[in-house]
Amino acid sequence: MDRIKLIDKLNTAHDLSDEEFYQLIFPLCSAGLSEESSPDNAALKAYTDAAAWTKDEEDHLYITAREAADANYGKSVFLRGLIEFTNYCKNDCYYCGIRCSNKNAERYRLTKEDILNCCDQGYYLGFRTFVLQGGEDPFFTDERICDIVSAIKLKHPDCAVTLSIGEKERASYQAYFDAGADRYLLREETSDNEHYHYLHPDSLSMKHRQNCLFTLKSIGYQVGCGIMVGSPMQTPKAVIKDLRFMQELKPHMIGIGPFIPHKDTKFANMPAGTLTDTLHLLSILRLMFPDILLPATTALGTIHPLGREMGIKAGANVVMPNLSPTGVRGKYLLYDGKICTGDEAAECRMCMQRRIESTGCHVEISRGDHCSVSH
Ligand code: 5AD
Ligand code: FES
Repeated sequence: MDRIKLIDKLNTAHDLSDEEFYQLIFPLCSAGLSEESSPDNAALKAYTDAAAWTKDEEDHLYITAREAADANYGKSVFLRGLIEFTNYCKNDCYYCGIRCSNKNAERYRLTKEDILNCCDQGYYLGFRTFVLQGGEDPFFTDERICDIVSAIKLKHPDCAVTLSIGEKERASYQAYFDAGADRYLLREETSDNEHYHYLHPDSLSMKHRQNCLFTLKSIGYQVGCGIMVGSPMQTPKAVIKDLRFMQELKPHMIGIGPFIPHKDTKFANMPAGTLTDTLHLLSILRLMFPDILLPATTALGTIHPLGREMGIKAGANVVMPNLSPTGVRGKYLLYDGKICTGDEAAECRMCMQRRIESTGCHVEISRGDHCSVSH
C-alpha cells in the first residue's frame, strides 16, 4: 500500500499491522540501517532512496496529524514549567550525560526553597504545571519529595505537579500521589530487550521499568512514557515494539525526542537522531493516539533551531520551557548542545509564546490535563 493510503488508514483505524508500520518507519535515517545492512552499498543506497519520503507524503502526514490534534485540543499548546532540581544520579545509563560514572559532570541540588521560588516565578509567568525532574538521587528520600510536592500544592492548589524521578517502589509512588502529585513521566527508552541492554548496564531491567509505568497508572497518575529517536542500535522493529507497548499501556502523554550524543559517554561519536525521523514519529503517534499529550521537546529544538515549531506543525501540543534557576541550567546536560541554558525563565516563556504563535497555535494557560481527566 502506498504511504498516503497508510496514513489515511492510520488516521481512521488508529492502528496498522507491523508490516504496515514498518513501511512508515523504515528507513530510520540515522540508526536503523544496521539490521538491514547489505554488504552491497549500491544496492542498499538504491533501497533507501526508494524508501525516502516525497514532499507530498510528508505534507500529508503532518497535516493529517495536526488536524487530529486540532480535533481534540484545538489550537491550544500547553506549557509545563520544567524544574531540573538535581543532577545527581545513581544510575549509569550509557547515553546520559549525568550518569553516575561521568566524573566531569558538575553536580548540584536545589533546595526546597529554590524549587518553591521557581514555582512562584513560573506561576506569575502563567505556568499551571510544574515538572520536577531529576536524576535518581538518594538524597531526595520519599519524605523530602512528599514535603516538596505538598508545599507546592499548598501554595498553588490550581496547579498540577508532575514528577520525573525514575524507578521507585509502589509504596513510594503511592506516597507521592497521596502528597498531591498528579502526573509522572518515565520513558521506557526502548521495548526491545536486547536494545535495552545495549543502552543500559545490567543493573537495570526493561521489565522493571515497564512495570513501574503500569504501577503508576494503577495508582491514578496521568502517565507519560516515551523513547529517544535514533538511539544507538535502534531498529525500526524496536520502534514498532514501542508502539505496541504504548498501545498496551495507554499513556496520557508520550515524550519523544532525538538521541543526541554527549561527549563524556561511550556513545560520544554516534550520530544524533534526525529531525525527519522525529517529526515522522510524532505524527504517527498523534494518529495512533489522537487525544495524547505530545511534547515538542527541548532535544528537538536542539537539533534544529525550528525543531519545536515543526513538531507542533506535525501534531505536538505541549512544550516544556525551563524554569530552573539560570545558575544551574548549564549543569543539567543529558546531551551536548542543549538550548536555553543561558536564558531567564521569563525570556524562555516569551520566546516560546512567539514560537507557538508562529505555527498558528496559541498558548493555553491551564493545567492542560489529558482530555479524559476532569477537575
Ligand atoms: N539524548 C537525548 N535524550 C536523552 N535523554 C537522556 N540522555 C539523552 C541523550 N543523550 C532522555 C531520556 C530520558 C529523558 C529525561 O532524557 O529519554 O528519559
Ligand atoms: Fe528558551 Fe526560546 S524557549 S530561549
